Amino acid sequence: MFYRNHLIKFSYRCFSSESRINSFIKSKLMSAEDVAEKFPEKVTIGASGFTPAGYPKVIPGAFAQRIKNSKNPENFSINLYTGASTGDELDGVLARSGRLKLKIPYQSHKDLRKLINQGKVNFIDMHLSHVSKYIREGIFPPIDVAIVEACDVTSDGRIYLTNSSGMSGTYLPLAKDIYIELNEAHPLDMKGLHDIYLPEIHTGRPINIDYVDDRIGTPYVRVNPEKIKGIVLTNKYDSSPGFKKPDDASFKIANHLLDFILDEVEHGRIPKTLLPFQSGVGNVANAVLACIAQDNRFKSIEMYTEVIQDSIFDLIDSDKLRFASTTALTFSSEGQKRFHRDLYELKSKFILRPMEISNNPEVIRRIGLITMNTALEADIYGNVNSTHVLGSSMMNGIGGSGDFTRNAYISIFMTPSVAKDGKISSFVPMVSHVDHNEHSVQIMVSEQGLADLRAKTPKQRAELIIEKCVHPMYKDLLRDYFQHAQRVSFGQHTPHDLKQALSWHIRLQETGSMHPDHQAKKEPTSKDTEKAAQKIDQTAATKK
Ligand code: COA
Repeated sequence: MFYRNHLIKFSYRCFSSESRINSFIKSKLMSAEDVAEKFPEKVTIGASGFTPAGYPKVIPGAFAQRIKNSKNPENFSINLYTGASTGDELDGVLARSGRLKLKIPYQSHKDLRKLINQGKVNFIDMHLSHVSKYIREGIFPPIDVAIVEACDVTSDGRIYLTNSSGMSGTYLPLAKDIYIELNEAHPLDMKGLHDIYLPEIHTGRPINIDYVDDRIGTPYVRVNPEKIKGIVLTNKYDSSPGFKKPDDASFKIANHLLDFILDEVEHGRIPKTLLPFQSGVGNVANAVLACIAQDNRFKSIEMYTEVIQDSIFDLIDSDKLRFASTTALTFSSEGQKRFHRDLYELKSKFILRPMEISNNPEVIRRIGLITMNTALEADIYGNVNSTHVLGSSMMNGIGGSGDFTRNAYISIFMTPSVAKDGKISSFVPMVSHVDHNEHSVQIMVSEQGLADLRAKTPKQRAELIIEKCVHPMYKDLLRDYFQHAQRVSFGQHTPHDLKQALSWHIRLQETGSMHPDHQAKKEPTSKDTEKAAQKIDQTAATKK
């Protein structure tokens, strides 16, 4: 058996090391600069990429350079559709070109975020499950060019993707012209990881995924080969941010969460074999998976999610990952190298799907997911803001968090109880923007504790959140607000004092802190207020 496996591995690797430059690819080879010259000045680009993974890395830079060299840069105008946020070589360079007019559906690049918050780039923050349908129905302007990263292309139009499955299955068939970045940093063994399937728009036909490892599509996107106008060779890793080790608060959140899940198993509400997990982006999500890996009470885990980060390796190393279905592998450079090195073994444990399928409400509801996403802030009734600092400044976008939360078997929101060294309480009287409303949010957890909001009235939810989740430095303040609201509220179902509901945010904007004890002794002058507002804007703009 040992001998056989090694023989298979050896022959597989021989196949993989063959040159991938077939005669079709050879006939299409171009430089990034030549491709950039072919784009119309007013262009709608559909690009691969979902998180800083699988996005084109050289053509956008060449196009930005063409704009810079132009005598009339003002003639250029770019609409950019991607899967989600992408790397600097796409979102960053096009934002800095000054000619980006529209970006959908998600972003997290600091330069792009700044322009959006200055009102200079139009950004439409969308549920990711809606994007493919909107594009295919022609609600957005049609796609002139698709730029997609691939690891192989065949003469009959099969495009084998890298980590680029995000929206490629939608953009490639719709684009007038297709340009491929053939990235040789990815081994040919990537072929076979994908399951590409696009549901028809108007039929009620089910998407036949019952289990996380079901396959219903093809390992490639098929296009008319005549539409492939150029192929550019690259050899570059995704510029994912380095893997940040989870902090203490994240581990505490993770432990509360795991205790809750095991208690649900005890009560028979979650099967002993558990349910598949969806896990959002960031520090806390990483900590949850790291804790599951270390906790002997968890034996075997399945993921049905849109993003997988380096923390998956903890599950692999502890032999607990049964299967992971995702849209993107957002690994650090070490993670990317390890994934490629172990691809032969890992292939039987992963599927990469288009985001239309990963985020599809029908599939999420049918599989029955435990969803775990992060809030920027939540209010005492359980409404969650994941996107807008001070109700007006875009952080990243709703991404898939709405798709997963609304359709989850159990929806969980996590957040450290305070931000910015305690100047911001993550729990406030009323959120300044609502992404996930009280009807969809079932469990709230901070490092302080966990509040199970299911089958609770608004007033019971408020009591639970205040007692379980709020940081001690804000607990009395929030209790005071809740009691005061019950005294003065117009209605008693969800009591609020509308005059005070956003007073914490106003205090933050004016003084730099939500806590009254942090206030400067003197009344702030208009200059102080301006400075404080700028500070908060800068903070939001420099994130990620
Ligand atoms: N007001 C202002 N700033 C706040 C804040 C608040 N209520 N709460 C947190 N912040 C700041 C933090 O201080 C931090 O700032 P820094 O980068 O300057 O240190 C920043 O916001 C991000 O917070 P962090 O604790 O690092 O969170 P994160 O990396 O886990 O991201 C979200 C949290 C909410 C921004 C992120 O999860 C997100 O974009 N979610 C929406 C999309 C989503 O859920 N996608 C996944 C679906 S699969």
